[in-house]
Amino acid sequence: MRKQRRGTPHAAAKRMAGSLAALAALATLTGTPALAQDKSMDEIAKYREMLADGNPAELIEMRGEELWKTPRGPKNVSLEQCDLGLGPGKVEGAYAQLPRYFADAGKVMDVEARLVYCMQTQQGFSFAEATKNWYSKPGKESDLVALVTWVGAQSNGQKINVPVKHPKEAEMVKMGEYIFHRRSGPQDFGCSVCHGQDGVRIRLQDLDNLSQSKGAQKAMRTWPAYRVSQGTVWTMQRRLIDCMRQARWPEQKFPSDAVIALEMYLQNKAAGGVLESPGIKR
Ligand code: HEC
Repeated sequence: MRKQRRGTPHAAAKRMAGSLAALAALATLTGTPALAQDKSMDEIAKYREMLADGNPAELIEMRGEELWKTPRGPKNVSLEQCDLGLGPGKVEGAYAQLPRYFADAGKVMDVEARLVYCMQTQQGFSFAEATKNWYSKPGKESDLVALVTWVGAQSNGQKINVPVKHPKEAEMVKMGEYIFHRRSGPQDFGCSVCHGQDGVRIRLQDLDNLSQSKGAQKAMRTWPAYRVSQGTVWTMQRRLIDCMRQARWPEQKFPSDAVIALEMYLQNKAAGGVLESPGIKR
């Protein structure tokens, strides 16, 4: 398993060279026809292993660390006093315990909602500024995603352990469970249609049963993740908002409470899973 690594930019860049070659090979593979899919799954597993030694997300992670420590915004302060749930400035292990209830905000927040909150309250950014580039596009890396990647990595090796003590936390788990199993929208679709049974497969991807602890752990322990098919890191908000789109549900505003409820439900199911973050996915 990959351990948390405090590499130099140079070392990371060197590892990247190997990763890029592997990525090119993987890109070729993902174009293989349906008949070759079983073989491709093995190959993808192999490439994952190779890439595990040089996940391109590490460069984004380093940028996140720098963003965290750099004074920014109208108030020109860093995020170093941001409280991610374990106390001001305590980042190690925080991601493993998110989402959670924050008394100062009076609500349950995930890592992204909390970072946006700190950018507003500590750095003086407006909500619009803090959320403007909430996901990365080709050629335009998001600051927020970099921050999430770094924060996530500081929980590498820790067990997912989301608190369900405050009534609002319990409420969000319930709401997430409800949303997960609810079918709606023009195609009467829902999360459980694709992720609520064993042995479902779409394109090259085996879809785990996320309503069971084993499947939820397998999925949740490797986020945020570098997505080879997208060439950048995706956060859990991005993943779930895109899945809602796949379910033909109305588009969510970022950060979405419905998504946070789903995260709360899934993290709860995944309790005990050891984080290996950032992960690497198709
Ligand atoms: C139409 C089928 C479909 C629906 C409906 C759907 N998803 Fe997904 N989901 C996928 C696919 C396909 C992937 C894998 C993405 C890929 O590799 O392209 C995925 C990936 C995920 C992952 C990451 C799994 C991992 O192993 O990392 C999570 C978590 C997830 N979905 C949750 C949800 C939730 C919650 C909902 C309901 C809002 C939902 N999905 C609705 C198809 C769906």
